[in-house]
Amino acid sequence: MNFYAMTLFPEIIENGMRASITGRALQKGIITLDTINIRDYSQNKHMRVDDYPYGGGAGMVMQAEPVYLAYQALCHRLRQEKVRVIYLTPQGQVFSQAMAQEFAKEEHLVFLCGHYEGIDERALEMVVTDYVSIGDYILTGGELPALVVMDAVSRLVPQVLNNEESAQFESFQDMLLEYPQYTRPEEFLGKKVPEVLLSGHHAKIEQWRREQSLIRTVTRRPDLLKENPYLTEKDKVYLEKYQKGQ
Ligand code: ADE
Repeated sequence: MNFYAMTLFPEIIENGMRASITGRALQKGIITLDTINIRDYSQNKHMRVDDYPYGGGAGMVMQAEPVYLAYQALCHRLRQEKVRVIYLTPQGQVFSQAMAQEFAKEEHLVFLCGHYEGIDERALEMVVTDYVSIGDYILTGGELPALVVMDAVSRLVPQVLNNEESAQFESFQDMLLEYPQYTRPEEFLGKKVPEVLLSGHHAKIEQWRREQSLIRTVTRRPDLLKENPYLTEKDKVYLEKYQKGQ
């Protein structure tokens, strides 16, 4: 997987990606990252990249030309006529695990990060293939959302997670929330680790974890249970019993 970020703040992307698990994957060459500073494509002697909005209004708008030139240079470098360009915007489709899975199939993914009041619509029309939001709130720019998407996609790329890390991922695939986790000591400030986890009885532990996932999901994110194709008959029976007992 090769990531490219077109941004006015490459250091945000570099700093976010070069740490922890994604940092390790970059070092190993399992994923790559190129940040492209849109300012480098300004044709203006002051290296300006923004201007006042036509029609008036608050804030500045990023100009079409440097964005388009940055995109063209990248297409040229990749020897591709078109590439998948994800524009991060609160006006996009809300990001999900399913989208991460879809993006993970690509060889190259380009992220276009806006700042100020956004980017001139003409540049967006010419280069963007996907409009993506990370939720219903407004951030100062697209860099943090780009990092969120890159991180979620990275962990789906084979070899990025080690065995232990990917085992954890499997229980989340059923669109249920994770069961609670405990580590040593067995007792902390009077609070004990659930008995079953110390029993060594694997089938019972599995069952307990599944039930905890179901309880968590129904109490914290009931929306995830409507039309959840991964629920077994046993899960449904358990949930019904649980809800009657509440
Ligand atoms: N840019 C600013 N806010 C955003 C959001 N919530 N999602 C994606 N891009 C954004």
